[in-house]
Amino acid sequence: MRKPFVAGNWKMNMDGRSSVDLAKRLASESVGIADQKVTVAICPPFVYLQAVVKALDGSSIAVGAQDSYFEPNGAFTGEISIPMLKDIGCTYCLCGHSERRHVIGETDELINQKVTSAINGGLLPILCVGELLNEREASKTEEVVTRHVKEGLAGLSAEKVSAVTIAYEPVWAIGTGLTATPQQAQEVHDFIRKLLAQMYDEQLAQEIRIQYGGSVKPGNAAELMSQKDVDGLLVGGASLKADDFLAIIKAAV
Ligand code: PGA
Repeated sequence: MRKPFVAGNWKMNMDGRSSVDLAKRLASESVGIADQKVTVAICPPFVYLQAVVKALDGSSIAVGAQDSYFEPNGAFTGEISIPMLKDIGCTYCLCGHSERRHVIGETDELINQKVTSAINGGLLPILCVGELLNEREASKTEEVVTRHVKEGLAGLSAEKVSAVTIAYEPVWAIGTGLTATPQQAQEVHDFIRKLLAQMYDEQLAQEIRIQYGGSVKPGNAAELMSQKDVDGLLVGGASLKADDFLAIIKAAV
């Protein structure tokens, strides 16, 4: 009943031409699958969003931004607002990706402002949560994930939270080639779903999609997706290669 959801996070990669070429290939080779069987989104860098939206015109692949700012407009040099993203045809927005938390230094409070403004502005946030290696080793995974989920969604009603996708991305698995085992992913996804049931209600918890992210590849996608509470995948490196990303989309059906 939860439609699988595969999203590609291009991070700070690609150029104008390769962005358009990749988007067009994904569009033509996912006909009949994207949207019908799997929700598919790609998140290019800001500067290529418009070109990618245009390249995907008529396809069922949605476009997301990798970040946003929570104010709608004003003197915020260098930032991009939700209304701007909406204006150019974005549907999704990543919020609180681990690189924004740990490289750029975003706090849970700022991430909450971004999630809130995305929902209020009509974009669908993908809230990324997950522990560092030392936190896992210190058995703090549940504590960290609880904080990310509770603080990321603070102040939002169940109705608003129904617009959110959660992406569980253990930081130690991102870009490292170290994937969480399907069992490790399932354990945390189950934990997040129970947490959502406590915070809101069982129905919402059953409806929300929880993606796994961290070194997802064509070779591990199907096994991760076979887990009961893994509803989709957030893919970094492998989303830059058409063949790999298409294979992952197909593995999620
Ligand atoms: P990766 O990145 O697939 O390259 O590990 C995942 C992510 O950061 O979303």
